[in-house]
Amino acid sequence: PQERTFIMIKPDGVHRGLVADIIKRFEAKGYKLVGIKVLVPSKDLAGKHYAEHEGKPFYPGLVNFLSSGAVVAMVWEGKEVIKTGRTFIGATNPLASAPGTIRGDYGIDVGRNIIHGSDSVDSAQKEIALWFKPAELAEYELIS
Ligand code: CMP
Repeated sequence: PQERTFIMIKPDGVHRGLVADIIKRFEAKGYKLVGIKVLVPSKDLAGKHYAEHEGKPFYPGLVNFLSSGAVVAMVWEGKEVIKTGRTFIGATNPLASAPGTIRGDYGIDVGRNIIHGSDSVDSAQKEIALWFKPAELAEYELIS
């Protein structure tokens, strides 16, 4: 398959009704949705997802928040989708994200920044493996 990335709409994004808007941006660009599910992550799963931040002052709040409600976990596929996904999402702090990006359009708080996207090939592989079983990812062609 082509490059894949893990994109997750966090509980604040789901709560605010931003799911369709976010999916629309990736679809309209031409990316292929190969995995999607709604779940309330366990603390264990949330902790593993954010393992690289363990020990930071915001880590406990981050893990609690991610497991506080439903998230939409997705895998998107296509040319340079990791980098483009990060561009769509915008800077980590929504106050610094450009207008037109998801965080730039919808957020003001770094702890409530709506969405997560893998930042490298390595983290995309790890995150996809953490959140999805291989059988939950579809292999298909987009008809053009
Ligand atoms: P995300 O891209 O999911 O990756 C790590 C997350 O940690 C980040 O989005 C923010 O939601 C959160 N984060 C980063 N810095 C801070 C901070 N200073 N305070 C609270 N949360 C933070």
